[in-house]
Amino acid sequence: MPISPSSPSPVPPPTSTEDEAVPLTVWPVAQVSAQHQRAGRYLPSCAAHPGKMIPALARRIIEAYSAPGDLVLDPMAGVGTTLIEAAALGRRCVGVELEDRWVTLARANLDHVLPSPARSLAEVRQGDARSLPGLLGDLAGRVDLIITSPPYACDAGVIDKGAWLAGARLCDRESLNYSTSRNNLGHARGEAYLAEMAQVYAGCCTVLRPGGLMVTVTKNMRRSGRLVDLAGITVSLAHDAGFAYLQHVIALLGAVRDSELVAHPSFWQLRQTRLARANGHPVHLTVHEDVLVFQTPACPSTSAQPHDQRAVAEAGPAEGGAIRG
Ligand SMILES: C[S@@+](CC[C@H](N)C(=O)[O-])C[C@H]1O[C@@H](n2cnc3c(N)ncnc32)[C@H](O)[C@@H]1O
Repeated sequence: MPISPSSPSPVPPPTSTEDEAVPLTVWPVAQVSAQHQRAGRYLPSCAAHPGKMIPALARRIIEAYSAPGDLVLDPMAGVGTTLIEAAALGRRCVGVELEDRWVTLARANLDHVLPSPARSLAEVRQGDARSLPGLLGDLAGRVDLIITSPPYACDAGVIDKGAWLAGARLCDRESLNYSTSRNNLGHARGEAYLAEMAQVYAGCCTVLRPGGLMVTVTKNMRRSGRLVDLAGITVSLAHDAGFAYLQHVIALLGAVRDSELVAHPSFWQLRQTRLARANGHPVHLTVHEDVLVFQTPACPSTSAQPHDQRAVAEAGPAEGGAIRG
């Protein structure tokens, strides 16, 4: 359907569940593909990491939900995308990452991309996101915004289309799930995923300042043909950790070209959808990521209120929605 980027969204009529509704909005974040967003800016060796955040999406989250000088944390930092974009926008930021390999790459990536004044704003700490308060030390309780893209509770690997076309595996086994170490949460599935991520989100709730925000980026994937509703799982985990659920943003992996929406799906998503359809399952292509916004319990002192209200106002009412307490 032709769409115009500038045409206002119609405000939907009130529904019987309006009091419980969470406002929805859509951000196009792939006008240029993720590879092109990184090309010539990030280190080429970042291609070895199987699950990076889209730089434009990280920027959009940081601009919407924090202010210059704020402290941003990514507890599962990978190659450092959120840190790079946060420091480039004048935020102080700390990343935590478990694996030697990604810690080294994230630090090198920060050195490579950021000019020296911005580089001094960003730091990578090696450690386990299940032990955040101890890792952050003095910074615990002072974080303004957490941004994280957790593992997806299903296999993530670096796709080698050339090798696959020549008859090999689509993803080299060595590239799967961020590390061969079973301690990496990229290997957690089912109940184990719920238990381990519950610890991560509980730590996130502790290290944020009162009224601070946590933004997660997840994608609903398929395992053995079945949809894994990771957005729903994440809402439930965050709720159990003590967060209030503020906002669900759809990050659209597509570009608007001549008023037409052009999808930028991953090769993996295309293959999954084609396989499902070949087996008679009428599934559609997933070309979005779920951006979920949560808040720690409101603080008694209201020094943080104007800032939070501004962030929520920028992201929510554009669609005609309203935040419900
Ligand atoms: C989806 S990736 C995040 C990628 C990151 N947003 C980026 O743009 O590069 C998840 C990351 O969590 C890391 N990880 C897994 N278990 C962890 C843990 N217990 N503590 C800290 N990091 C962990 C993985 O090694 C992986 O780099």
